[in-house]
Amino acid sequence: MFSIFIFLQLIITVTSYIPLNRDEHVASYIDNKIFFLGGETDTQNLTKDFFFLDVSIPFNTSSLPMYDLNSITEIPFNRRASSIVCETVKDAIFVWGGDFGLNSSSPLIFAFNTTAKIWNAANDKGIKPPRRRFSSVVCDKNAKIYILDGTADQNIGNTSTPYSNELDVFYTSQLTWSLGSNLNAPVPHDIGTATLLPNGKIVYIGGSNAFGKYLELTQVFLYDTLKNTWANMNTTGASPTARGFHTAVLTRQGHIVVYGGENAPFIPVPDQLLDLDTNVQPFKWTIPSIGFTPNPAPFRGHTSTLVGNYMIVAFGWFNNGTGSSRSNKIIMLNVNDPNNYMWVSSFTPPSVLSATSQPAASKSPESNTGSTNNTAVIIGIVGGVVGVIIISAVIFLYYRWYKNREDINVIPSDDAFKRSKEVI
Ligand SMILES: *[C@@H]1O[C@H](CO)[C@@H](O)[C@H](O)[C@H]1NC(C)=O
Ligand SMILES: *[C@@H]1O[C@H](CO)[C@@H](O)[C@H](O)[C@H]1NC(C)=O
Ligand SMILES: *[C@@H]1O[C@H](CO)[C@@H](O)[C@H](O)[C@H]1NC(C)=O
Ligand SMILES: *[C@@H]1O[C@H](CO)[C@@H](O)[C@H](O)[C@H]1NC(C)=O
Ligand SMILES: *[C@@H]1O[C@H](CO)[C@@H](O)[C@H](O)[C@H]1NC(C)=O
Ligand SMILES: *[C@@H]1O[C@H](CO)[C@@H](O)[C@H](O)[C@H]1NC(C)=O
Ligand SMILES: *[C@@H]1O[C@H](CO)[C@@H](O)[C@H](O)[C@H]1NC(C)=O
Repeated sequence: MFSIFIFLQLIITVTSYIPLNRDEHVASYIDNKIFFLGGETDTQNLTKDFFFLDVSIPFNTSSLPMYDLNSITEIPFNRRASSIVCETVKDAIFVWGGDFGLNSSSPLIFAFNTTAKIWNAANDKGIKPPRRRFSSVVCDKNAKIYILDGTADQNIGNTSTPYSNELDVFYTSQLTWSLGSNLNAPVPHDIGTATLLPNGKIVYIGGSNAFGKYLELTQVFLYDTLKNTWANMNTTGASPTARGFHTAVLTRQGHIVVYGGENAPFIPVPDQLLDLDTNVQPFKWTIPSIGFTPNPAPFRGHTSTLVGNYMIVAFGWFNNGTGSSRSNKIIMLNVNDPNNYMWVSSFTPPSVLSATSQPAASKSPESNTGSTNNTAVIIGIVGGVVGVIIISAVIFLYYRWYKNREDINVIPSDDAFKRSKEVI
């Protein structure tokens, strides 16, 4: 199996990729990669484009180590879904909801196994929640996924009540559904964010309700995953503009960095970058005043992913001066120092950062030495297994052909969905 994986790595790393302009995709950080899936492009409302950014190596935003995974095809065309990585599940990306074309019988949860490199529909059990898009989703330490709100409309096969206020819990290791509490929950909304704190509380920020009203940020809602109870909190500090379509990441310093958002359709909020300090009670907003604005500066339909010290913002709609255009760029904010956030163009991977912060390593001026040695070791290993790889290639191609035969049916029909393998 090991040699098969090396072989897969080789296949993947030779196909570099220039992304298209895109919005309403999903992004998931796992296994030293950010995987991007689906969304809209300038010519397609739904896609199943699948590619990744290699964050194991340093890079700058003008030359991205981006690689194509379009040969992995077992997922329908989609947009407006939510992807989730559970800290305790080392090799899976879960994708919930979203638009999958005019069909409400598509599976609710897909999972990509990063080891087997295959998509599967989760063979979920129990009472399934209604399919929704633009939900706020997190996964806790027990590998339970919490899905709040979202909208259902005719695009996803539902013409009834468009806004949901359900909190659905999907237990990934049992593949079962249950309902969380609704008491004192925020109003039904979509396009808000959910951020899990280390104490098990989920912080819900912003969104838009059924009347097109954008939710104030000066009141946040907290769901305690340990007690299954809701509380709300009025924040202190700045009073940011109400918004939806923003993104949020939790930094290692316990600050939630909010980026982007609109307060009317396609009208970006003036305060695009916000900081919420969750180390103080009540939480405190700051609007960082930083001199340099990235270009493009997406405000809607982008994703933000924290990798080490960097918030990596990908694609989305930006204001082009006369209207809105989709971006195919990545912009990065260094969030290491809550008092000094900086837009940057070069990225240093967490492995290199932690190596250089160790006392022994920091004495050595050549932080490159380590990675050069690593490269030599990797080349050595790769050289040593070339023979094995050739044998593996034959096995792999057979395996791949066999898997495709088996999995091609997983998606399209309800029947196949019922027959599909369990994810875990
Ligand atoms: C995308 O959807 C919009 C609105 O539903 C429609 O007007 C447009 O033609 C679609 N575009 C493509 C490329 O399918
Ligand atoms: C970005 O990286 C590429 C490839 O490593 C390099 O050719 C280019 O000079 C770099 N640009 C900047 C501005 O550092
Ligand atoms: C449509 O949405 C409503 C309200 O969220 C839900 O009760 C119903 O089950 C949904 N129907 C389908 C077919 O998903
Ligand atoms: C918190 O804010 C809400 C909405 O702005 C307001 O109605 C409520 O009175 C505030 N609660 C407290 C305790 O200040
Ligand atoms: C800016 O956006 C408008 C509206 O979407 C579009 O018509 C125009 O072509 C865009 N301009 C550029 C330079 O992309
Ligand atoms: C809807 O999806 C189901 C299962 O994926 C499939 O069997 C059915 O043919 C689809 N219906 C339409 C109208 O596309
Ligand atoms: C992913 O696939 C590998 C290899 O087939 C398997 O060992 C592992 O349990 C799978 N992981 C999940 C989360 O299903």
